[in-house]
Amino acid sequence: MTPAVCLTGVGKVYGHPTRGFRALDDINITIEQGDFYGLLGPNGAGKTTLIQIMAGLTRPTTGSVSVMGHDVARDPSAVRRRLGVVPQELVFDPFFTVRETLRIQSGLFGLPKNDDWIDELLHALDLSDRAQTNLRALSGGMKRRVLVAQALVHRPAVIVLDEPTAGVDIQLRESLWQFIRGLNDKGHTILLTTHYLEEAEKLCRRLAFLRRGSIACEGLTTEFLATTTGPARLEQVFRKIFQEAAVE
Ligand SMILES: Nc1ncnc2c1ncn2[C@@H]1O[C@H](COP(=O)(O)OP(=O)(O)OP(=O)(O)O)[C@@H](O)[C@H]1O
Ligand SMILES: [Mg+2]
Repeated sequence: MTPAVCLTGVGKVYGHPTRGFRALDDINITIEQGDFYGLLGPNGAGKTTLIQIMAGLTRPTTGSVSVMGHDVARDPSAVRRRLGVVPQELVFDPFFTVRETLRIQSGLFGLPKNDDWIDELLHALDLSDRAQTNLRALSGGMKRRVLVAQALVHRPAVIVLDEPTAGVDIQLRESLWQFIRGLNDKGHTILLTTHYLEEAEKLCRRLAFLRRGSIACEGLTTEFLATTTGPARLEQVFRKIFQEAAVE
């Protein structure tokens, strides 16, 4: 089967090609269709840069990326239809209501009659009673939920969530994950970054640990967890990987 995401030799240098900052170096990752994949690493490791490259928002310095078999550089519109990204940064137009925002986004994908799905998204994200509220009048956590809904209006095959639960209360986090799990059960591929390791431990089938722009290790979550005992096992794995890096 065609992989959902294939990153081949991806590198990124910000600024001057030789004296600039190397944010990513020779990243090779294949994510199978239907997988639930976690990309973990400390602040500045390069997670968002990698996601921006996947979404075609940042150009890689080297390497290539394909989503559901479509090359991001050669066929960006095919990729856009198959990919939904929940960005880490809150970006939105404050003058539209929640429903207008989702309708506009649907229109961009050529889906003028999308209200049934929009209603389902609003319900799942506990935004139904905010549908007519302007985005500027929402709290930070609510804005983030709108970003999640916005990324899903076109029912993308591959869903990328860049720290979707930062600033989101515990109750909504649980319902958000239930919803995302449901989409995964229906065959959607999920790529997640999070600093909440207990979420990654529960949700992700495979994990990649990114360290200063390189993959430190990659594999099945169960295999990583099998190396530890006791509580907060993924946190122990994470500490071990990054403490070892510190003494290199
Ligand atoms: N536009 C840019 N110009 C220059 N450097 C950048 C730019 N964007 C990111 N960087 C640098 O690239 C590195 C990786 O940043 P990135 O945002 O990808 O990290 P991250 O893993 O997502 O971190 P976080 O967990 O804090 O979100 C950082 O050192 C950052 O300062
Ligand atoms: Mg980031």
